[in-house]
Amino acid sequence: MTDMLATTRPGKLIINGEAVDAATGRTFRTMNPATEEAICEVAEAGPEDVDRAVKAARAAFDGGPWARMRPAERQRILFRLGDLILEHADELGRLETLDNGKPIFESRQIDAPMAANCFHYFAGWATKLAGETLPVQPAFFTYTLREPLGVVGAIIPWNFPMIMVGWKCAPALAAGNCVVLKPAELTPLTAIRIGELALEAGLPPGVLNVLPGKGSVAGEAMVRHPGVDKITFTGSTEVGKHIMKTGADTVKKVTLELGGKSPNIVFADADLEAAVRGATTGIFYGKGEVCAAGSRLLVESSVHDEFVAKLAERAKRLVPADPLDPKTRLGALVSAAQMEKVLGYVDTGVSEGAKLVAGGKRQPVGGKGYFVQATVLDQVDNRMRVAQEEIFGPVLAVIRFEDVEDAVRKGNDSPYGLAAGVWTRDVNKAHAVARRLQAGTVWVNAYNFYDAGMPFGGYKASGFGRDLGPESLREYTQVKSVWISIE
Ligand code: NAI
Ligand code: MG
Repeated sequence: MTDMLATTRPGKLIINGEAVDAATGRTFRTMNPATEEAICEVAEAGPEDVDRAVKAARAAFDGGPWARMRPAERQRILFRLGDLILEHADELGRLETLDNGKPIFESRQIDAPMAANCFHYFAGWATKLAGETLPVQPAFFTYTLREPLGVVGAIIPWNFPMIMVGWKCAPALAAGNCVVLKPAELTPLTAIRIGELALEAGLPPGVLNVLPGKGSVAGEAMVRHPGVDKITFTGSTEVGKHIMKTGADTVKKVTLELGGKSPNIVFADADLEAAVRGATTGIFYGKGEVCAAGSRLLVESSVHDEFVAKLAERAKRLVPADPLDPKTRLGALVSAAQMEKVLGYVDTGVSEGAKLVAGGKRQPVGGKGYFVQATVLDQVDNRMRVAQEEIFGPVLAVIRFEDVEDAVRKGNDSPYGLAAGVWTRDVNKAHAVARRLQAGTVWVNAYNFYDAGMPFGGYKASGFGRDLGPESLREYTQVKSVWISIE
C-alpha cells in the first residue's frame, strides 16, 4: 500500500482546463476506510470556485469550442477518453479501492471498464442525435432540433465514484453540454483523475470541471447557481428532495436517482443453487452500499428453510479482507458513520424480532478498518424497519411469501421502486411478475447487471429520469420546433 500512496498526488480542483487550488485555499482530507489512514489532502471547492467553474462551462458552451465543434470530433474525443480510462484502469482501480474500501476485484475489473464503456457507448451518440421533420401543415416546412441544455451540474455519491462519472458525464457531454461535476467528499480521487484524463483526451477547457468539496457548500452552490441549467443527482432521498426544492427557485431541470429497498424474489421452482449465488451477490456486492442492492430477499415458504441454510453458509464464508488483495470479495464500508448506521440497523432488526443467522458484527482486518460481516436477518416481516428503510450495507432481510400474489404484494410494499429480481424456471411467471413489479429494472435469474446501453432509474420514491441507454439522452437535451413558412 505504501508505494501506492506515493503515487497519490494531492487532489486539486479542475476549472477551465487547469488544476487549481480552492479560492479560499482550503483543503480536506480523504481517508482510506480499510486502514483508517489519511490518503491525501484535496482542495475543497467553495461558492467562489463553483462560480468560476460555471462561468468556464458557460463560456465553453455559449458559442465556445464545445458548441462549435463538429459532432464527429466530440465523438472522437469522448471515445479517446474511454480508451484512456481503460489504459489507466490499474491506477483508477487502486485509487477507487483506497478511497472507498471496495475490493480491487470490483474497482479494477468491473468499475473501471464500466466507466470506460459509458464513454465509448455515448461517444457514438454524439453523431446520431437528431430531430425530426414533421409535415403538419402544407404552408410550412416544420422540423425539430434536439439541442443540449447548456451547463449540467452532476452531483454524485461515494459508492460508485468512477462509474457515476461515466453515467452522468458521458451522455451529458455527448449531447453537447458542458459539465460541472461534484464528487462525494468521501471519495473524490477518481473523479479528479478522470478530469485530468479528459483534458489529455482533448476535451477543451471548461467543458468538464471537477469540484471536490462538501455537499452542503459546493453542492448547494451548484444547485442555487442561475448559470446551471440542470442538476443530475444520485444519492440519498433526503438530499434529492432538498435539491428539487432548492432547484425550483431557478427552475432547474432535475434528474434524481435515489435510494432503494429492492426485492429479490425466489420462487420454489427456481434453480436454487443459482438463486443462492444471486441472492448473495445481490446484497454483498459493493458491500451492500449499492442503491439497487437486493436487500429484501423474498423466499417462497416451501423452500425457505433449505434456502436460508444455504445462504447463511455462503454468507459466513464471505469474510471481510484487505480490499487490495485481488481475491477479496467483501471490503470495508466507506466510513465510520456508515458502519455505525449499518450496525445500528442490525440491532434494530434483532429488537424487532428478526433472527440473526449470519454475521452481524464489525470485523476489523489487521486490527483496523470499517469492515462489517456479511449479515443475514431471517424471519423479517415486511413492515419492520429493516425491511422498509435503506440500510446501505451488507445486511440482507429475508421475508417469506406464500404465492405469486403474496410475492408481488410484498415486493411492491415499499416506498421505493428501483430494482427487483425474480428467480423462477417458469417463463410465464417470470414475464408476468416482471410486469407487475413497480421497479425501474427487473432482473430475471440474474441480479446486478448493468450496461451503458440499458436505461437505469427509479419508480416511486427511488426518483425519476433515467441514466444510461438512449433514454438518458432525453435527460440532457431539449427539443426546438422550427416553423418555416413556404407560401
Ligand atoms: P448524500 O446524499 O449526502 O450524498 C450524495 C451527494 O450529494 C454527495 O456528492 C454530497 O456531497 C451531495 N450533497 C449533500 N448535501 C447536498 C446539498 N445540500 N446540496 C447538493 N448536494 C449535496 O449521501 P450520504 O450522506 O453520503 O449518505 C447517506 C445515505 O444516503 C447512505 O447511508 C445511503 O443510505 C444513501 N445513499 C444512497 C446512494 C444511492 O446511490 N442511492 C448513494 C449514497 C448514499
Ligand atoms: Mg475516502
